[in-house]
Amino acid sequence: MRRQQMVASAICRPAHFVLATLLALTNVARAEVGVAQVMSALEEGYFDSPPGVPNFHLNNNNKDYLYLADIENPSGSAWRLVAEGPNLIDKYNVLTGDYVRVNYKNSSTASGSRRLLSDEPLPEIDSIDVISESEGHEIYTGTQIRVKSMIYIISTCGWAPSATVEQIKGTFFNNTNNIAGYHDTCSYGKVAFDPSENFVFGPVEIPCKGTVTNGVLKYPYDASVACGAAEQFAWRQYSEAAARAAGYGAFMASSQRRIIHILPREVRCPWAGLGNVGCSGSYCIVYIKGAYAQDLTVNMHELGHTQGLSHAGRGYDEYGDFSDVMGTAPSEGYLCMNVGNQYRVGWNKPLATLLPDNTTNAPGNRGVAGRWVLPPTAATDTNALYLRYNINGTPFPNIFVSFRSRTSRYDNALATYMNNRVFVHNFNGSATERDYNRTLLVAVMAAGDVYTSPFLGNTTFDDSGLGVKIRVISIAAGTSATVEVCRLTEKVETSCFDGDDNDCNGLTDELDPACAMASSPPPSSPNVPPSPSKSPPPSPPPPISKPPSPRPPPRPRSPPRSPLPPPRPPTSPPPPPQLKASKAPRFPTPPQKPRPPRPPPPPRPPPRRPSSPRRPRMPTAPTRH
Ligand SMILES: *[C@@H]1O[C@H](CO)[C@@H](O)[C@H](O)[C@H]1NC(C)=O
Ligand SMILES: *[C@@H]1O[C@H](CO)[C@@H](O)[C@H](O)[C@H]1NC(C)=O
Ligand SMILES: *[C@@H]1O[C@H](CO)[C@@H](O)[C@H](O)[C@H]1NC(C)=O
Ligand SMILES: *[C@@H]1O[C@H](CO)[C@@H](O)[C@H](O)[C@H]1NC(C)=O
Ligand SMILES: *[C@@H]1O[C@H](CO)[C@@H](O)[C@H](O)[C@H]1NC(C)=O
Ligand SMILES: *[C@@H]1O[C@H](CO)[C@@H](O)[C@H](O)[C@H]1NC(C)=O
Repeated sequence: MRRQQMVASAICRPAHFVLATLLALTNVARAEVGVAQVMSALEEGYFDSPPGVPNFHLNNNNKDYLYLADIENPSGSAWRLVAEGPNLIDKYNVLTGDYVRVNYKNSSTASGSRRLLSDEPLPEIDSIDVISESEGHEIYTGTQIRVKSMIYIISTCGWAPSATVEQIKGTFFNNTNNIAGYHDTCSYGKVAFDPSENFVFGPVEIPCKGTVTNGVLKYPYDASVACGAAEQFAWRQYSEAAARAAGYGAFMASSQRRIIHILPREVRCPWAGLGNVGCSGSYCIVYIKGAYAQDLTVNMHELGHTQGLSHAGRGYDEYGDFSDVMGTAPSEGYLCMNVGNQYRVGWNKPLATLLPDNTTNAPGNRGVAGRWVLPPTAATDTNALYLRYNINGTPFPNIFVSFRSRTSRYDNALATYMNNRVFVHNFNGSATERDYNRTLLVAVMAAGDVYTSPFLGNTTFDDSGLGVKIRVISIAAGTSATVEVCRLTEKVETSCFDGDDNDCNGLTDELDPACAMASSPPPSSPNVPPSPSKSPPPSPPPPISKPPSPRPPPRPRSPPRSPLPPPRPPTSPPPPPQLKASKAPRFPTPPQKPRPPRPPPPPRPPPRRPSSPRRPRMPTAPTRH
């Protein structure tokens, strides 16, 4: 009966789609149109490496999948796999829900413009044109976002459902930690996952083998051996039909609806979870493999993709950020998104935005450290220091600084070595639906630690450029962290008469040994070279770009999960975020002699050029051949 429905829908297929299909099949014009479905996989092996085996996950090693669904009947007609590989969103600039034209290469190896069977080679894509962009609505802009979903528990091929309806309701709504609470906690109430709009349904028994129909084509699926686009479509199609028959049809018409499939344990899928990136249009899809059915962090990870989020990485490890459920959660519970990802979906606001000129809240005063008090992200959504030196095209990473502290709810799965620490993330993105930038964790710091960014040299012939040093002054566990931010304009202080600590080593001008050789005001003649052999720079504060912290032990897969430390007693509310940087304390100097009163600054050469080259130009570089 269902098959008849599908065939019937194929018959009333709109002409343009049939035309595109036929053209594609006859190889005359190797293009077809449809609705893009970008699927991001959470690799299973990543979680399951045995102890001692590095579960390192290389960037660009990850598989995304691009499916194409029929534009006129996206839910009734089977999608097909058209591309797989890393970072497909980036590569093709295409987002879930976009209406696209896929142009294939007319290569002899391609068997046609579409692949029907999973063992056929994929036709080679020449390009993808976005005909019309989907409109996302996943970024919070002032109105609470209410997630809607059907959650299907599936059995097939003689494999039992991996969980009961009650168990899944527990995972989503009723357990102490649950998906509804996860959304509420990590989004600061901006996203609701309410039981009145998210229905657990099942178990749905689905034929193990059969055919799915697309346009004029039928093609087989067999879940006992495969977990490809055809099998996934069959699971979806049968589940949706069953829910419709049970009276959910009106609800199922709502837009941006999640279709979540809880699969049996035995399915032949290589991932723990698979989900659409973004959720524009009428629906988006999530698949959860049975072993992870009741796993909060795997479910939340996939639902995070539907919000439009990408993976949270560290170094070369695409999932290497252990402070974000979009990276890797070290244990079960709530692990919220890092402040960069929160920013991407509109869940937080910077407590201050620092541009190059007001890093220190003292315009033009380049080397003075500004001091900031960060609240724990658990306490407020105004929670990140946002360093935007990347303006006017300066290729400097945007940096987010935050302080993370576990509470009994917020971040209750944060690893101990990350608790009450200051985090530095790179995130070049913005709060827009079509932003494909990813967050990158670059430092996790305790009190006394310093992060020094790479120094972006201006030219090869002088020391000037752009960098930043972030030092953690103190941490009051659960309450606040005080940090100092100093923008470097010189790698080593060479501007010795400008009253600035240009290299952020805590020593200004003549106090800086790097200036020892420069005993007189800068020569007026640019022809006098400075001493080529400056005394070595003072030993700066220990370099902080620490090697990545040791990876925590692989995530335990079996209960009991290591219990969390007892919840922190309610703390007094943290001090309101300090919105003005107190200008005072400079970057701490080694606790030697008290600093002498600052001598009156010598007259400054007006106008001050940020980096007047004091050194002679290097001789012309040898020409490259
Ligand atoms: C594609 O290849 C087929 C045969 O290999 C040829 O007949 C056809 O003209 C080609 N189409 C284009 C657009 O080049
Ligand atoms: C589960 O939670 C829902 C909504 O929060 C509530 O209506 C229901 O009674 C709960 N069920 C159980 C078994 O606690
Ligand atoms: C720095 O300047 C920008 C742009 O004028 C402003 O939005 C931001 O609030 C300033 N930051 C501070 C800390 O004053
Ligand atoms: C951010 O942009 C900078 C400058 O273009 C680049 O060097 C850096 O790799 C980018 N970082 C991320 C995480 O995208
Ligand atoms: C994010 O990354 C893309 C390149 O992938 C870049 O073009 C864009 O400017 C970046 N930043 C924002 C805010 O979108
Ligand atoms: C590089 O040098 C030019 C010329 O001195 C200056 O205008 C610019 O601000 C410098 N850029 C950085 C990043 O310091």
